[in-house]
Amino acid sequence: MEVSRLFEHHDITIYAKLDLLQLAGSTKERTANGLIEELLGSGQLHAGGMIIESTSGNLGIALARQCVVRGIKFIAVVDENANPLALELMKAYGATVDRVVTPAAGNKLAARRQRVQELLAKHAGAVTTNQYGSLANPRAHFSTTMPEIVAGSGGNLDYLFVATSTTGTLLGCQQYIRAQGLDTKVVAVDAIGSVLFGGESGIRRLPGLGAGILPELASAAEPDMVFQIPEIEMVRGCRLLARREGILAGASTGAIVAAMGQLVPTLDAGARIAFVVHDTGVPYLQTVYNDEWVRSTLNEEPELERNTEPSDRSEK
Ligand SMILES: Cc1ncc(COP(=O)(O)O)c(C=O)c1O
Repeated sequence: MEVSRLFEHHDITIYAKLDLLQLAGSTKERTANGLIEELLGSGQLHAGGMIIESTSGNLGIALARQCVVRGIKFIAVVDENANPLALELMKAYGATVDRVVTPAAGNKLAARRQRVQELLAKHAGAVTTNQYGSLANPRAHFSTTMPEIVAGSGGNLDYLFVATSTTGTLLGCQQYIRAQGLDTKVVAVDAIGSVLFGGESGIRRLPGLGAGILPELASAAEPDMVFQIPEIEMVRGCRLLARREGILAGASTGAIVAAMGQLVPTLDAGARIAFVVHDTGVPYLQTVYNDEWVRSTLNEEPELERNTEPSDRSEK
């Protein structure tokens, strides 16, 4: 979908890839499908089997949904950061939710991964999809996400913006761009407090993007540009997208909007951009879109007023 109201630069074309319309509500629908098909195809998993996976939300929802239609049991290992609504969704699909309590000085991702190993030892024949290291993760985006973006936009894109967590989406898109010899620069959008592209691990309250320890896949990620975005800018980016384009997205997409807001003013006329709307904003209504939460948790003003009116809408 072309978006034209987000920024004031009318001579730049911007396309939004609406992965919030995936059945599970996020890009992870593609990842989950790729990971499960790989396990079924290699004979490691069969109908009636069990999947155990560490997930901060969206992969869990997508796996839970896809396990239903394949007759597979699913245990989601989550941490305190997990969105309560995401957990309700997983349970609604019949998944078991196993919540890890992270030790005070501990790393949440590491604690979840250790718990996955414990559960695998307990359930004979169970498998993990390993979204952090499986090449089926980027392959899903190589074979669907990027080809769809190219087809939907007409191609010829100067920049592609993706948010990063396992880096699977970025890697798959990057591999497709290289394989096709496209001239599209890949922009990685990460959270401050994530270690994916250097920097110290820090407090991150909003799920969806960033990592506290490096996933195996990340070593192959070679973005042309990296933006590390503070959480308040994710909030403002989400609200801008909702108020100007009528797209209610989650925090990682808000981060992308913030990053685009920095790059767009520097681009030449005629530039063509695409970005991924990674998930629906509905599970973020009590956080990103809640003024009280923003004030009490991020100690910042959401600045809604500034975001409601593009300054020169009348010129369009
Ligand atoms: C909300 C959200 N943000 C970002 C991403 C990108 O994550 P990854 O790097 O693991 O592909 C996803 C992937 O589905 C997502 O659901």
